[in-house]
Amino acid sequence: MIKAIGSAFILTNEVASYVIYIHDRRPTLLHYGGKVKESDIPSLNLDYSIPTGRAVYSDGETTLNLVPLEVSGLGKGDYLTPSYSLERNGKTVFDFRYADYWINEEADRSNPFPLPRGGEELVLLLRDKEGQASLELHYIVYPKAIARYATIHNEGAEVLYINHLASFSLDFPYLGQKGYFLSSSWGAEAQAELLDLPKGELKFKGLTGASSDCFNPFFAIFGPEATKDEGEAYGFNLMYSGSYEISVSRDSFYRLRVQEGLPSTDFHYGVKCNKTFYSPVAVLTYSDQGANGLRKANADFIHNHVIRERFVNVPRPIVYNNWEATFFDFSTLKIHSLVDQAADLGVELFVLDDGWFGKRNDDKSGLGDWTVNKRKVLGGMAALADFVHERGLKFGLWFEPEMVNPDSDLYRAHPEYVLSERKEPALCRNQLILDLRQASVQDFLVETIVNAVKDYHLDYIKWDCNRAFSDIDQAAIYDYYLGLYKVLGRIVGQCPDTLFENCASGGMRFDLGMMSFFPYTWVSDDTDSYERAKIQRALSLGYPFSTFSNHVSAKISHQMFRKTTFGTKFDVAMLGALGYELDLNHLSGLDQEEIKEQIAFYKKHRDLALYGDPVDLSFGENIVMASKKGDEMLISFCSGVNHPLPSLEILRVKGLEEEADYSIATRPEYFDIRDFGDMVNQISPVKLKPDGVVANAVSKVYRYPSETTEVTLSGAALAHSGLKLGMKWSGSGISKTGRIMFDFSARAYYLSKAK
Ligand code: DGJ
Repeated sequence: MIKAIGSAFILTNEVASYVIYIHDRRPTLLHYGGKVKESDIPSLNLDYSIPTGRAVYSDGETTLNLVPLEVSGLGKGDYLTPSYSLERNGKTVFDFRYADYWINEEADRSNPFPLPRGGEELVLLLRDKEGQASLELHYIVYPKAIARYATIHNEGAEVLYINHLASFSLDFPYLGQKGYFLSSSWGAEAQAELLDLPKGELKFKGLTGASSDCFNPFFAIFGPEATKDEGEAYGFNLMYSGSYEISVSRDSFYRLRVQEGLPSTDFHYGVKCNKTFYSPVAVLTYSDQGANGLRKANADFIHNHVIRERFVNVPRPIVYNNWEATFFDFSTLKIHSLVDQAADLGVELFVLDDGWFGKRNDDKSGLGDWTVNKRKVLGGMAALADFVHERGLKFGLWFEPEMVNPDSDLYRAHPEYVLSERKEPALCRNQLILDLRQASVQDFLVETIVNAVKDYHLDYIKWDCNRAFSDIDQAAIYDYYLGLYKVLGRIVGQCPDTLFENCASGGMRFDLGMMSFFPYTWVSDDTDSYERAKIQRALSLGYPFSTFSNHVSAKISHQMFRKTTFGTKFDVAMLGALGYELDLNHLSGLDQEEIKEQIAFYKKHRDLALYGDPVDLSFGENIVMASKKGDEMLISFCSGVNHPLPSLEILRVKGLEEEADYSIATRPEYFDIRDFGDMVNQISPVKLKPDGVVANAVSKVYRYPSETTEVTLSGAALAHSGLKLGMKWSGSGISKTGRIMFDFSARAYYLSKAK
């Protein structure tokens, strides 16, 4: 709800109030956080006219250094980070003052960047007559979030240059908050860092043209008292996939300024007379129930306003992807055998990854030539699609539509399609980027994908993007993304039922912009379960599990060389959209049996795994994530490195009905007896030589079961006392309830209200 009351505007949603006050014709922030009353407004205001040493007075008694500004420029006495920086004819001091406001019952949709669905909107118009420009601040209110963006309109005859424009700027009173940021790189996406906020400025920039190459655009600010379940937590995100910047600055007075938006480095964008420049949209969420409250707010908001409605509350199919099984080296025979085995395991979608087109036998050539390599796919792609469909699976293909290899027919025919301001642009993975600012390139992409969906009978597309931008400036990247979003809008408009998976060498473009077209994202090429558990936990603060694509891969991780069981891999991969990515020809009969059990378990709990609220139950070194929906919970428990004489581990689950009883059970898992080494004789009734002929023969037909937990506890006991997990192996012997946890191994628990 939005209300204008005198000089104030009060924005209220289910969880928060956001109170703006026009102070000396400048929008200032009186409050953002838990709900307040309208009658509080006069007393929330402060008289800022206290003289502070060398302060500059731009408005009679007020020094901007103290005022909590909603928008801030250069050269008028506010010396924290500006939220915009403009330039015309060498002049850079602009002074935008409040001129008008209006409220749109339904948010205006003229911003060309992705916008969340729905929402009521407040627009504040600010004008600088001398500077011949106007600035609009847009606030869109959703039940669990407030979206913000800014526009600059050039009212002068000469070009106005934008050197920086944040999507939002927010001045909090500084009270000792902490910042939570997700640093990111290939294979190690979303590495969480919780930082004290120093006086001065912290900047987190991604200048590579892909939102998550350096940091994920999601970040949070926690109140000084915040914990997993209590205290103030503020989430911030950008619905944008290109370069961006997060800035958190603190001054000598009381202010903590938080901003996110386009980068201030290398950005210089000319806006012609009477034209409007738009920032991408930022999303602000809030909870007074700590990190887990923020998780829920973000998940609800993304499901209700970001993911295309067609794909919300819809089960994601269980995928088989051939990449780590074959890489570029496959034949039709090999693919057919993988399809047959995937079908037998219960997989629902077969994805043929890179290497099926043009002259593409490695990553040096072929990108851009999206015609089938008939030597690898005999009879053509439609024939393969039919083969897959006949076995009851859906069929999908990998594309990297935004790219071209110089060694390709596309490049030879259209060198002008390449995005570069230099004649010899730098290569990255042997490829160049197509210039999506050009209408003809946009048409080429749309036709390629729409025709492929039709001609190849595709149900699914994996949309990959494997290089950082170079040889152009940040203004060109901004225009590139305007082009990309146009292309994506046209494609999903023409292929509304095709499931698209977003990928950029893993999660290098894990952002709300891509998510508004493609409902889920390949989280990381790193499928080692412990590394994935870390990444998924960190990302779950900002994004729901339904947006995660997770695969069970080979026991020895291609990325980490770490060995874990298939059980462990599944226990982490199950929170999200599940897939398998390994050579199915290398599975033993027992492996197949185990994978079938996993798939059956996942199908039974899929809705919970995808659409439950993400909850962090981690303690000590254990990464424990759960998905909670109604009276059920699916818990993924991932342990770290073992220690001698491990202490008792107690899993606490808060927020259940205190009076109700809940049963909790482990998902049954199994060990290969050869993994016990010499200790095989602790579990074998007859003496065995470890890795001897008999042990090897037994291991082919027998799996040693893990401990079982089957407990009923009240919600009160789970919250206040906790579930005592079986004693961990401590060198002393094996029992039915004792947990044998190899380093970095995992378990899954299913919790439900007892009938
Ligand atoms: C990078 C992706 O992250 C992988 O899953 C795979 O699709 C390769 N690209 C193919 O080139």
